[in-house]
Amino acid sequence: MGGKLIVFEGVEGCGKTSQMQLCCEWLQNLGVFVVVTREPGGTELGLHLRRLLLEKVENEPIAEVTELLLYAADRSHHVEQELKPNLADGKYILCDRYTDSTTAYQGYGRGLNMSLINQLNLIATGGLESDLTIWLDVDVEVGLARKKGDGVGFDRIEQETIAFHRRVQQGYAELAASHPARIVRVDGTLSQAAVQQVIQGILREKLEL
Ligand code: TYD
Repeated sequence: MGGKLIVFEGVEGCGKTSQMQLCCEWLQNLGVFVVVTREPGGTELGLHLRRLLLEKVENEPIAEVTELLLYAADRSHHVEQELKPNLADGKYILCDRYTDSTTAYQGYGRGLNMSLINQLNLIATGGLESDLTIWLDVDVEVGLARKKGDGVGFDRIEQETIAFHRRVQQGYAELAASHPARIVRVDGTLSQAAVQQVIQGILREKLEL
Protein backbone atom coordinates (compact mmCIF):
# COMPACT_ATOMS: atom_id res chain seq x y z
CA MET A 1 0.00 0.00 0.00
CA GLY A 2 1.27 3.49 -0.84
CA GLY A 3 1.67 6.06 1.90
CA LYS A 4 -0.17 9.32 2.39
CA LEU A 5 1.01 12.90 2.44
CA ILE A 6 -0.94 14.95 4.98
CA VAL A 7 -0.01 18.63 5.15
CA PHE A 8 -0.77 21.19 7.86
CA GLU A 9 -1.04 24.83 6.82
CA GLY A 10 -1.97 28.18 8.30
CA VAL A 11 -0.77 31.60 9.41
CA GLU A 12 1.77 32.14 12.19
CA GLY A 13 0.64 30.72 15.54
CA CYS A 14 -2.26 28.69 14.10
CA GLY A 15 -1.27 25.67 16.21
CA LYS A 16 0.07 23.36 13.47
CA THR A 17 3.00 22.03 15.43
CA SER A 18 1.08 20.87 18.49
CA GLN A 19 -1.80 19.47 16.42
CA MET A 20 0.66 17.51 14.27
CA GLN A 21 2.25 16.05 17.41
CA LEU A 22 -1.15 14.94 18.77
CA CYS A 23 -2.07 13.53 15.38
CA CYS A 24 1.19 11.60 15.23
CA GLU A 25 0.53 9.99 18.64
CA TRP A 26 -3.04 9.09 17.65
CA LEU A 27 -1.95 7.50 14.35
CA GLN A 28 0.86 5.58 16.02
CA ASN A 29 -1.65 4.19 18.54
CA LEU A 30 -3.69 2.97 15.58
CA GLY A 31 -0.60 1.09 14.38
CA VAL A 32 0.12 3.46 11.47
CA PHE A 33 3.78 4.14 10.56
CA VAL A 34 4.14 7.91 10.76
CA VAL A 35 6.86 10.35 9.74
CA VAL A 36 6.74 13.98 10.91
CA THR A 37 8.57 16.54 8.84
CA ARG A 38 8.44 20.19 7.81
CA GLU A 39 9.28 22.84 5.25
CA PRO A 40 11.57 24.57 5.30
CA GLY A 41 14.02 22.34 7.19
CA GLY A 42 12.95 18.72 6.76
CA THR A 43 16.45 17.62 5.67
CA GLU A 44 20.08 18.41 6.62
CA LEU A 45 20.39 20.76 3.65
CA GLY A 46 16.96 22.15 4.45
CA LEU A 47 18.04 23.05 7.98
CA HIS A 48 20.75 25.29 6.52
CA LEU A 49 18.23 26.85 4.12
CA ARG A 50 15.74 27.35 6.96
CA ARG A 51 18.30 29.28 8.97
CA LEU A 52 19.15 31.44 5.95
CA LEU A 53 15.47 32.09 5.30
CA LEU A 54 14.37 32.93 8.82
CA GLU A 55 17.36 34.91 10.16
CA LYS A 56 17.21 38.61 9.55
CA VAL A 57 20.41 40.10 8.14
CA GLU A 58 20.03 43.84 8.71
CA ASN A 59 22.14 45.23 5.88
CA GLU A 60 21.27 42.69 3.25
CA PRO A 61 17.56 42.03 2.85
CA ILE A 62 16.70 38.92 0.82
CA ALA A 63 15.14 39.80 -2.54
CA GLU A 64 11.64 38.40 -2.97
CA VAL A 65 12.50 36.11 -5.88
CA THR A 66 15.60 34.87 -4.03
CA GLU A 67 13.35 33.98 -1.10
CA LEU A 68 10.99 32.14 -3.45
CA LEU A 69 13.87 30.17 -4.98
CA LEU A 70 15.28 29.21 -1.58
CA TYR A 71 11.90 27.81 -0.47
CA ALA A 72 11.69 25.96 -3.79
CA ALA A 73 15.21 24.55 -3.33
CA ASP A 74 14.33 23.33 0.15
CA ARG A 75 11.16 21.70 -1.22
CA SER A 76 12.84 20.03 -4.17
CA HIS A 77 15.42 18.39 -1.91
CA HIS A 78 12.81 17.47 0.70
CA VAL A 79 10.56 15.78 -1.89
CA GLU A 80 13.43 13.65 -3.22
CA GLN A 81 15.14 12.92 0.07
CA GLU A 82 12.25 12.48 2.46
CA LEU A 83 8.76 12.52 0.95
CA LYS A 84 9.08 10.16 -2.02
CA PRO A 85 11.03 7.41 -0.19
CA ASN A 86 8.67 7.44 2.81
CA LEU A 87 5.59 7.37 0.60
CA ALA A 88 7.07 4.45 -1.31
CA ASP A 89 7.53 2.69 2.05
CA GLY A 90 3.82 3.13 2.78
CA LYS A 91 4.34 5.67 5.58
CA TYR A 92 1.89 8.39 6.58
CA ILE A 93 3.74 11.67 6.38
CA LEU A 94 2.62 14.62 8.50
CA CYS A 95 4.24 17.64 6.89
CA ASP A 96 4.32 21.12 8.45
CA ARG A 97 3.78 23.38 5.37
CA TYR A 98 4.12 22.55 1.66
CA THR A 99 3.26 24.19 -1.68
CA ASP A 100 0.27 26.17 -0.37
CA SER A 101 2.64 28.08 1.95
CA THR A 102 4.51 29.36 -1.09
CA THR A 103 1.29 30.39 -2.80
CA ALA A 104 0.03 32.09 0.36
CA TYR A 105 3.27 33.77 1.54
CA GLN A 106 5.22 34.49 -1.67
CA GLY A 107 2.14 34.77 -3.91
CA TYR A 108 -0.48 36.58 -1.82
CA GLY A 109 1.87 37.97 0.84
CA ARG A 110 4.70 39.24 -1.37
CA GLY A 111 2.59 39.61 -4.51
CA LEU A 112 4.90 37.56 -6.72
CA ASN A 113 3.61 36.27 -10.04
CA MET A 114 1.27 33.32 -9.50
CA SER A 115 2.17 31.53 -12.69
CA LEU A 116 5.87 31.67 -11.71
CA ILE A 117 4.96 30.26 -8.29
CA ASN A 118 2.85 27.49 -9.79
CA GLN A 119 5.67 26.57 -12.15
CA LEU A 120 8.22 26.49 -9.34
CA ASN A 121 5.92 24.43 -7.12
CA LEU A 122 5.56 21.97 -9.99
CA ILE A 123 9.31 21.81 -10.63
CA ALA A 124 10.10 21.39 -6.92
CA THR A 125 7.52 18.67 -6.31
CA GLY A 126 7.61 16.88 -9.66
CA GLY A 127 3.81 17.03 -9.40
CA LEU A 128 3.57 15.39 -5.95
CA GLU A 129 0.46 16.85 -4.29
CA SER A 130 -0.77 16.29 -0.76
CA ASP A 131 -3.47 13.67 -0.26
CA LEU A 132 -5.03 15.99 2.29
CA THR A 133 -4.20 19.47 3.55
CA ILE A 134 -5.54 20.64 6.90
CA TRP A 135 -5.79 24.44 7.02
CA LEU A 136 -5.91 25.62 10.63
CA ASP A 137 -7.77 28.88 10.39
CA VAL A 138 -7.14 31.47 13.10
CA ASP A 139 -7.24 35.26 12.92
CA VAL A 140 -3.86 36.75 12.16
CA GLU A 141 -3.93 38.79 15.39
CA VAL A 142 -4.76 35.72 17.49
CA GLY A 143 -1.95 33.71 15.91
CA LEU A 144 0.66 36.44 16.28
CA ALA A 145 -0.36 37.01 19.91
CA ARG A 146 0.13 33.28 20.59
CA LYS A 147 3.58 33.48 18.99
CA LYS A 148 4.50 36.54 21.01
CA GLY A 149 3.47 34.69 24.16
CA ASP A 150 5.90 31.84 23.55
CA GLY A 151 8.84 34.17 24.29
CA VAL A 152 11.03 32.96 21.41
CA GLY A 153 10.99 36.25 19.47
CA PHE A 154 9.81 36.84 15.92
CA ASP A 155 11.75 35.50 12.93
CA ARG A 156 12.22 37.36 9.63
CA ILE A 157 8.83 36.37 8.20
CA GLU A 158 6.91 36.80 11.45
CA GLN A 159 8.28 40.35 11.64
CA GLU A 160 6.41 41.28 8.46
CA THR A 161 3.56 43.81 8.68
CA ILE A 162 0.08 42.83 9.79
CA ALA A 163 -1.11 43.67 6.25
CA PHE A 164 1.31 41.04 4.88
CA HIS A 165 -0.04 38.40 7.26
CA ARG A 166 -3.63 39.35 6.35
CA ARG A 167 -2.84 38.81 2.66
CA VAL A 168 -1.38 35.40 3.53
CA GLN A 169 -4.61 34.56 5.38
CA GLN A 170 -6.65 35.68 2.37
CA GLY A 171 -4.46 33.42 0.25
CA TYR A 172 -5.35 30.39 2.37
CA ALA A 173 -9.05 31.25 2.16
CA GLU A 174 -8.89 31.46 -1.63
CA LEU A 175 -6.82 28.30 -1.94
CA ALA A 176 -9.31 26.39 0.23
CA ALA A 177 -12.21 27.69 -1.84
CA SER A 178 -10.60 26.62 -5.10
CA HIS A 179 -9.39 23.17 -3.90
CA PRO A 180 -12.28 21.90 -1.77
CA ALA A 181 -11.39 18.21 -2.19
CA ARG A 182 -7.76 18.60 -1.11
CA ILE A 183 -7.86 21.42 1.45
CA VAL A 184 -10.09 21.21 4.53
CA ARG A 185 -10.56 24.23 6.79
CA VAL A 186 -10.52 23.63 10.53
CA ASP A 187 -11.46 26.34 13.02
CA GLY A 188 -8.18 26.77 14.89
CA THR A 189 -9.67 28.98 17.62
CA LEU A 190 -11.35 26.04 19.37
CA SER A 191 -9.57 24.37 22.30
CA GLN A 192 -6.57 22.22 21.45
CA ALA A 193 -8.53 19.04 22.26
CA ALA A 194 -11.52 20.11 20.18
CA VAL A 195 -9.34 20.97 17.17
CA GLN A 196 -7.69 17.55 17.45
CA GLN A 197 -11.08 15.81 17.53
CA VAL A 198 -12.10 17.61 14.34
CA ILE A 199 -8.82 16.71 12.61
CA GLN A 200 -9.12 13.04 13.59
CA GLY A 201 -12.67 12.99 12.19
CA ILE A 202 -11.47 14.43 8.88
CA LEU A 203 -8.58 11.96 8.63
CA ARG A 204 -10.90 9.04 9.42
CA GLU A 205 -13.31 10.11 6.72
CA LYS A 206 -10.88 11.17 4.01
CA LEU A 207 -8.23 8.51 4.54
CA GLU A 208 -10.58 5.74 5.65
CA LEU A 209 -8.74 5.05 8.88
P1 TYD B 1 7.15 27.55 10.35
O1 TYD B 1 8.01 26.33 10.40
O2 TYD B 1 5.68 27.37 10.38
O3 TYD B 1 7.59 28.55 11.47
P2 TYD B 1 7.48 28.28 13.05
O4 TYD B 1 8.14 26.97 13.34
O5 TYD B 1 8.19 29.48 13.59
O6 TYD B 1 6.01 28.27 13.33
O7 TYD B 1 7.44 28.28 8.96
C1 TYD B 1 8.56 28.98 8.67
C2 TYD B 1 8.22 30.26 7.96
O8 TYD B 1 8.44 30.13 6.55
C3 TYD B 1 6.79 30.75 8.12
O9 TYD B 1 6.84 32.12 8.44
C4 TYD B 1 6.19 30.62 6.74
C5 TYD B 1 7.38 30.70 5.82
N1 TYD B 1 7.23 29.99 4.53
C6 TYD B 1 7.10 30.71 3.35
O10 TYD B 1 7.07 31.96 3.38
N2 TYD B 1 7.03 30.05 2.16
C7 TYD B 1 7.08 28.68 2.08
O11 TYD B 1 7.01 28.11 0.97
C8 TYD B 1 7.20 27.94 3.31
C9 TYD B 1 7.26 26.44 3.28
C10 TYD B 1 7.26 28.63 4.51
